[in-house]
Amino acid sequence: MADSAPFRGKVALVTGAARRIGRAIALRLAAEGATVAVHYHQSEQDARRTAEESGARLFNANLEHVPEIHRLFTEVEQAYGRLDFLVNNAARFEQVPALEITEEAWDQIHNVNLKAVFFCCQAGARLMLKNGGGKIVNLSSLGGIRPWSEHAHYCASKAGVIMLTRVLAKAFAPHISVNSVAPGVVHFEGEMTPRAQRLVAATPMRRAGTGEEIAEAVVSFLRASPFVTGQVLAVDGGLSQRA
Ligand SMILES: NC(=O)c1ccc[n+]([C@@H]2O[C@H](COP(=O)([O-])OP(=O)(O)OC[C@H]3O[C@@H](n4cnc5c(N)ncnc54)[C@H](OP(=O)(O)O)[C@@H]3O)[C@@H](O)[C@H]2O)c1
Repeated sequence: MADSAPFRGKVALVTGAARRIGRAIALRLAAEGATVAVHYHQSEQDARRTAEESGARLFNANLEHVPEIHRLFTEVEQAYGRLDFLVNNAARFEQVPALEITEEAWDQIHNVNLKAVFFCCQAGARLMLKNGGGKIVNLSSLGGIRPWSEHAHYCASKAGVIMLTRVLAKAFAPHISVNSVAPGVVHFEGEMTPRAQRLVAATPMRRAGTGEEIAEAVVSFLRASPFVTGQVLAVDGGLSQRA
């Protein structure tokens, strides 16, 4: 049966929550009544602003390194004694022609976008199980579903996040649900790149999405019955439906 107050008394960790989509998710979770843990890497000033506005505590870690992931979850446990929700939002994105992707660029993208998501899920699940379970939402991407020719490493990493979501939904059942939100183009301040403009022009809804719309989808998975697991929700204005 659905919980009538699914966020009250719950602790939610959002990675990469200083700015943009992660910030929108942290603010929305706080507005829903959750106790929020804001993770950041380099954007300390923005993270402080998000934390102040969401009444959250701040946690710093470079998620490229597994020992830092373990330290992050230990600090969250020390601060709150539990973890109910984990939103794996932190990621890297870059546009590089496939013929020019270096080993270093491949590793940087995969270390944050895929390896860190796995080890955050693992550490998060271990902590959640100490209090009976929880819910995980991984931010993947339309680029993990559709092939973007100048983003081979990014697309491969996000396709990995989608498969990881499905695998872990089975591996962590019955006490933890794992789902994924796959954003299309989400725009913030400043001018859109020509590529983003082209994608928006091809989007049936004829606009970019907002951080708040992605946060809405994340919250809907966290509010849902744990019977909803292993699912990927594209929030992309219909772009994934184009021929
Ligand atoms: N924006 C879009 O149009 C779009 C489209 C499809 C999918 N998505 C996905 O949605 C999520 C959020 O998107 P976004 O555009 O808001 O993301 P973003 O601004 O590119 O990155 C989010 C955060 O990830 C953190 N991060 C990067 N490398 C890190 C590292 N080594 N260790 C720890 N944190 C690290 C950064 O934290 P610091 O700033 O604190 O260093 C950054 O603020 C991502 O998973 C992204 O792939 C976004």
